[in-house]
Amino acid sequence: MMQDDLRRQPSRVDGRAKVTGKATYIAEFRFPNMAYGYLVQSTIAKGKIRDIETAEAEKQPGVIKVLSHKNLPKLAVPTPAPDAIPRPFYALTSDEIRFNAQPIAVVVAETFEEARYAASLVKVTYDQAPHATDLRSVLGSAFVPGREQPDRGTPENAFAAAEFKVEAEYYIPIEHHNAMEPHATVANWDDGKLTVYDKTQGIQGTTGYLATAFGIDRANIRVLSPFVGGAFGAALRPGPNLIVAAMASRELKRPVKIVYSRRQLATAHGYRPESIQNIKVSADKDGKLTSIIHQAVHNTSAYENFSEGLVGVSRGLYACPNVRTVAKIARTDLQTPLWMRSPGVVSGIFALESALDELSYKLKLDPLELRLRNYADTDPETGRPFSSKELRECYRQGAERFGWSKRSPEPRSMRDGKYLVGWGLATGTWPASQAPASARVILNADGTARVESGTTDIGPGTYTTMTIIASEVLGLPIEKITFVLGDSDMPPTPGQGGSTTTSSVGTAVKEASELALKALIDAANAKEDSPFRGVAFDQLVFEKGSVAVKGRPETRRSFQDILKGHSESSVSVLHRSTPDAAERGKYVIASHGAQFVEVKVDEEIGQVRVTRVVQGTAAGRIINPKGAHSQEMGGVVWGVGMGLMEHTEVDHKLGRIMNPNLAGYHVPVNADIGVIETIFVPEEDKIVNPLGAKGLGELGLVGIPAAIANAIYHATGKRIRSLPITPDKLV
Ligand code: MOS
Repeated sequence: MMQDDLRRQPSRVDGRAKVTGKATYIAEFRFPNMAYGYLVQSTIAKGKIRDIETAEAEKQPGVIKVLSHKNLPKLAVPTPAPDAIPRPFYALTSDEIRFNAQPIAVVVAETFEEARYAASLVKVTYDQAPHATDLRSVLGSAFVPGREQPDRGTPENAFAAAEFKVEAEYYIPIEHHNAMEPHATVANWDDGKLTVYDKTQGIQGTTGYLATAFGIDRANIRVLSPFVGGAFGAALRPGPNLIVAAMASRELKRPVKIVYSRRQLATAHGYRPESIQNIKVSADKDGKLTSIIHQAVHNTSAYENFSEGLVGVSRGLYACPNVRTVAKIARTDLQTPLWMRSPGVVSGIFALESALDELSYKLKLDPLELRLRNYADTDPETGRPFSSKELRECYRQGAERFGWSKRSPEPRSMRDGKYLVGWGLATGTWPASQAPASARVILNADGTARVESGTTDIGPGTYTTMTIIASEVLGLPIEKITFVLGDSDMPPTPGQGGSTTTSSVGTAVKEASELALKALIDAANAKEDSPFRGVAFDQLVFEKGSVAVKGRPETRRSFQDILKGHSESSVSVLHRSTPDAAERGKYVIASHGAQFVEVKVDEEIGQVRVTRVVQGTAAGRIINPKGAHSQEMGGVVWGVGMGLMEHTEVDHKLGRIMNPNLAGYHVPVNADIGVIETIFVPEEDKIVNPLGAKGLGELGLVGIPAAIANAIYHATGKRIRSLPITPDKLV
C-alpha cells in the first residue's frame, strides 16, 4: 500500500504500550516470594540417565532444590509403553533421553543467577545409546503416516511421454522460530488452584494440557498470556518451561518462574523439519502442464509422528490432469518438529514454484505466462468452485507495479554496474479456515465498550483488528473500545495459528457486537417513550456512540442516555460463533498471492541482496490495512531469511543443535531489506465468513523463498535447489 493511504488507517491500539514498556511480557510477571528455575539439559541424544548428582549444586548460596524425575511426583498422565507412538514428551518424568539438550532437571533458587550457576554444577551420568539425527541416514525407513493419496490421472505415463520436463530435488534445512521473546512461564499454586503466566498461542490448549497433566479440573486453572513477543508457531504446543515451572511450584509451594536463555530454544520446542523433495513436472509445447509428481520426506522424532503434508500445494495450485503426491516422514533422534510460519506450504511451494520456473526456461516461455496458462479456475482436485480467487488480478497488478514486462528473459542478461540483476516470481496460497470462537461485548453506561475474547496476539495485531471490527459494528470510535484477550477466564477461542484468528475470533466479535446492539435497543424499549419501539433493527443507524431511526435524526439517543435509566448499568452479551460448514463445504476457500522479487548479485563474493519486492495479495476484505501491510512485509522479511540465511546446524556426531543463538543462526536485519510494496487486490467473498476476510499472516511468506531462488537463477544462471542460498553456493 502507498504510505499516504496507510497514514490514514488506524495504528496498533497496543503500540504505545509496547514501545513504552507498559505491555507486560511473561518474564516480567512476578508473585511475592517467587523462586527462579533454570533447566539442566542432556548432553547426549539417546539413552538413559544413570544418575543425577546434585549435592554440589544444592550447596550453593540461594539454591532451594534440584528437581528431576528422581524426586518429582508422577504426573496424572498414564505412562505409555516404551515403544508406543505417539508418546508425548513431558519433561522431568523419566530417565529416558530422546534428544540432545533435553531438559532433565531444574535448579530452583532465590535468584535467576544463582539457579543458572548451580545448574552448571549438576553432574549427570548416562547409559548412552547410538543415535541418528541426519535425515539422509534414515531415508530407508521413511514411511507415509496415515493414508496415501490416490493418484489423479496417470502421472508417471504422462511424465514419461512429455516433451518438456524437469526433475529435481529440493532441500530445506531445519529452521528455528527464534522469536524475540524467550519461552517463559510463571506458575503459582495456591490452595489447589494453579495460575500460570505462559508464553502461548493457545490459552485453552495450555489449560487443557495442565488439567490432564495434574489430573485437576480446568476450573482450577487460570492461564494468562496478555502479550506474546513473537511465536511463529513455536508456542502452539506447551513446552517444558510450562510443565516444569508448574511441577516445581507445586513441589516447593512457592511461585516459580522459568525464563529460557536464547540457547535453550533448543529444548523440546519444535522447529521447521528438515525436508527433501523430489519434483517431476512436465508440459506440452503450449506450456500446458501434463504432470506433477511431488514426493517429499521430512524428519520427525522417534516418539511422535509429526507431518506437515507439504505436497498438498501440488494438487490444487494449478490445473493439471495428472498428479501424484507422496509425503513421508522419517524418524530421527531429535525433538519433535513443529509448525513454523506457513508450515508445509512454504516448503512445498519452494519446490513446486522452483520446478515450474525451471520448466519455463525449457519451454522458453515467460514464467508468468506459464502460470497463467495453467491457471486453476476451479479446484483441480474436486472440481469445486473457489469461494473467491483474484489470483489473476494479483499477477496482473503485481507485474504492472513491478515492471515485469521489461524483464529480459535470458539469464545473466540484466546488470546494474558490477551486480547481476535477476527478476523472479512465485505464487502463494494459504487455506482460509474458520473455527468456532466466542466473545463477550459489554456496553457501559459511560458510552464505552469492553470486548473480551480468550485469544492471544502473537504480534499480527489482533488487539487492533478486533477493536476495528467492534468499532465498525457498534458505531463507537476506536478510542471508546477496550479489547482484552489472553486469559482463560475469558470466552474460549481456538489457539492463534494457521492465520485464522481474524476469521474465527473476528466473526465472534462481529456477531457479539450485533447482539449487544440488539440488547441495547431492548433496554431502550423498556421505556414507554422509546422512539425505537416497533422499528425494525435494520432501520436503525448506530454511529458515534448513538442510535437513531434511519432518516429521523430527532430520534437520536446516545448509548449513555439509553443506559442511564436502565436497571443494569451496562449491557453484556456472550456469544459463540460457528462456521457455516454446509455452505463452506461447497467451495474451496483460500487466500492467494503473487510475489515478484528483484535480486542483485555480487558474483565475486556470492552475495545476494533482495532489492525490491512487490506482493500482490487477494485475501478477501482487508479489515486492518496497516496491520495487514505489516504482515505482508513481515512475510517478505521472513522469506529473505529463509531464502538466504536461516539454517539450524546439527552436529550429527553429537546429535546436537550447534547454533541455538542469534550469533550462529542468521536472520535478516534492516540493512538486508530493500523496498517492499504490497498491493491488496479487492476481493469479495460472501462464503468465507460473515466478515468476508481471509487470513493473510502466513500467506505473505509462502512464495518468497521460491521467488528469490528464481530471481537468483535469472541473475546468475545458477539454479540453487537447497536453502538457504548462502554465498558459498554461488561462487
Ligand atoms: Mo502458525 S505456524 O500458524 O503459528
